[in-house]
This record gives sequence, C-alpha cells and structure tokens, in this order.
Amino acid sequence: MIRLRREAPAHQPAREALLDACFGPERFAKTCELLRRDSRPAPGLAFAAIENRTLIGTLRLWPITTGSAGAALLLGPLGVAGDRRSRGIGHSLVTMAIEAATRRGHQAILLVGDAPYYARFGFDARFTLGLDLPGPVDRARFLGLELVAGALAGA
Ligand SMILES: CC(C)(COP(=O)(O)OP(=O)(O)OC[C@H]1O[C@@H](n2cnc3c(N)ncnc32)[C@H](O)[C@@H]1OP(=O)(O)O)[C@@H](O)C(=O)NCCC(=O)NCCS
Repeated sequence: MIRLRREAPAHQPAREALLDACFGPERFAKTCELLRRDSRPAPGLAFAAIENRTLIGTLRLWPITTGSAGAALLLGPLGVAGDRRSRGIGHSLVTMAIEAATRRGHQAILLVGDAPYYARFGFDARFTLGLDLPGPVDRARFLGLELVAGALAGA
C-alpha cells in the first residue's frame, strides 16, 4: 500500500538517492536550487510517498518572495521512482501539497517544470509574466498557481 505523509528526517538519504535518479547531478545547477539554497522547506509542506517502508516519491514547498506579490511558495523538486510512475503518485503529492498550502493560508505557488504536466493542477505561465528568477529560466516552464484569486495579479 502506498501512503502519503509528511517528510521526516529519516527519509533524507533515500530522498537524495531518489532525486539523483530522477534528475541526475545537474539538479544542483538549476536556477530553482539557488532559491532553495540555505533555505528550509515551508513548515508542514514537505511530503513523501512511502511503499513498504521505501520512499518512492518526494515533493517540497519552499518559502519565497515574489516581488510585489509578497510571500509565496516554490514547488519542487517533485520526483517519483521510475518503476512507480503513472500510478497517480505524482498527482496525489501535488494535490496534497496544494491543499495543505491552502489550509495554511498561503496565497500562491510558483515552480519551474513541464507545463503539460502541471497544467492539470491549474499552473500557468500567465501568472509569472512579470516575474524573474535569479538565473536563466525557460519562461514556458516558469508557472504559477493562485491559491487565492488575484494573488499574483500584477506581480
Ligand atoms: C513527473 C513525475 C513526477 C510524474 O510522476 P507520476 O507519479 O508518474 O505522475 P502521475 O501518475 O500523477 O501522472 C502520470 C501521467 O503524467 C504524464 N507525465 C509524466 N511526466 C510528464 C511530463 N513531464 N509532461 C507531461 N506529462 C507527463 C505521464 O505520461 C502520465 O500520463 P498517463 O496517466 O496518461 O499515463 C515523474 O514522471 C518523475 O519523477 N519524473 C522525473 C522527474 C521530473 O521530471 N520531475 C518534475 C516534472 S517537471
């Protein structure tokens, strides 16, 4: 049985191995990594998918500031073990993260990722048109989601 739960410190070694497998060593050079460096996940917003005591999925949300829109969250990285994909684990992790962030009163989530995957949750590049990241980014992959309507308007 697959269980989704809050990430725990004991998950850390398996999480690093999973992310290495999903993204390779170049994951540390990504622009989003600059935003996450020296930061910690937003309280209560780091999640793990566990099957038979093995970590098979991970997702975190991070606190960031989005220019005039103020505080928001950065989603990522999202990774699911290669032999466990297309079972809805990624979908469940993202849905759980969005719901938890909304419950905690957050206003908006940003990410850099594949629009064809994240569009199903409502993420869209139109929300980030006025925003920049501290490094190169493919604008078509720079996506936002308003948890509160208008939260990213004019940002
Ligand atoms: C992206 C990822 C997290 C999805 O996890 P998952 O548990 O397989 O996701 P789900 O089961 O919710 O959804 C699977 C569906 O999404 C589709 N999908 C997966 N990655 C996709 C992508 N990058 N773009 C568009 N669709 C994608 C799959 O084809 C699948 O479609 P199907 O249901 O018609 O078979 C997983 O493929 C992964 O870890 N990939 C490598 C790391 C990565 O790229 N992460 C970030 C994505 S930007």
